[in-house]
Amino acid sequence: MRRPMRRRLAPAPDPPDNGPVTKLIFDCDPGVDDAIALFLAFASPQDLEILAITTAAGNVAADLTARNAAIIRQIAGREDVPIHAGAQRPLVRPPVGAGDFHGESGLGTLPTFQPAKGVAAGHAANVIVDLIMAHAPGQVTIAATGALTNLALAMRLEPAIVARLGQIAIMGGARREGGNITASAEFNIYADPHAADVVFTSGAKCVVFGLDVTHQVRADPARTAAIATIKTPAAQASANLLEFSNALERDIVGGTGAPIHDPCVIAWLLAPRLFTLRPCALRVETASPLMLGHTAVEFRLADPSTATVQWATRADADSVFALLNERLAR
Ligand code: BDR
Ligand code: CA
Repeated sequence: MRRPMRRRLAPAPDPPDNGPVTKLIFDCDPGVDDAIALFLAFASPQDLEILAITTAAGNVAADLTARNAAIIRQIAGREDVPIHAGAQRPLVRPPVGAGDFHGESGLGTLPTFQPAKGVAAGHAANVIVDLIMAHAPGQVTIAATGALTNLALAMRLEPAIVARLGQIAIMGGARREGGNITASAEFNIYADPHAADVVFTSGAKCVVFGLDVTHQVRADPARTAAIATIKTPAAQASANLLEFSNALERDIVGGTGAPIHDPCVIAWLLAPRLFTLRPCALRVETASPLMLGHTAVEFRLADPSTATVQWATRADADSVFALLNERLAR
């Protein structure tokens, strides 16, 4: 009998090439892939100083995304990081969830529990404003892996945060790949297109990881099995989450290996050389019901050096998984 071919995993990129510790606000809507992104961030204290986790309605309702973040934080043993709950609804459109892909709880089949430590006082949008204004210009980076509602609210509350922000690393949008919630829209942007429009027209520096790149980073069976062999609580929980997503990918999409969308954002912060970026102009469709949430990504720029948005086009998927495995083993 022929033995199945084993994929050779790339060695972990070491050391991370992002220079000094990044001060990070992580805005998310866990969500199975948000949860893995949280594990990756929590396991990287030498690279990321997480100032706060902020949550909003998205994949599931706002009370569940906040609770799920607290569950993941407890599994990771990082109760030192505060979690602030935020927007309960999108700015304008009716709420839309993604429970089909994340399960009723938002964490697939991962056993849920009441976290020992709850969320901290203070609305996410206020906390984002306060943290950015309390730091010197350019000091705070935002990772955003859900609808952009909290961030848009923060920009409306205090427009001065735009000039003080370092950069925003966003999972959202699609160009070449087409949409995953409608023919033309990716879920996070579709979930709150008006908030995304506020962010992308603000002039803030954005690095955007859309489906074009996240669909290159898939938890195929060999990669998932490799994570399952790591005996830390974070790795075991991640394997559970990936197995859930892979079963849905097979049953709903007919594919092998679910894309790990949100961890791409954190992987880029840890090891930017694993991704290829291209300057662009990006606008979000907010008017047409047919195209709602579509991201129009334009590479034909008069002067690319002035672009404030970078669009990720390629990922070194083996090295992203090698990085994830190395961190989950800690
Ligand atoms: C995005 O949508 C959500 O369901 C995932 O968590 C990810 O952020 C992918 O389109
Ligand atoms: Ca998400």
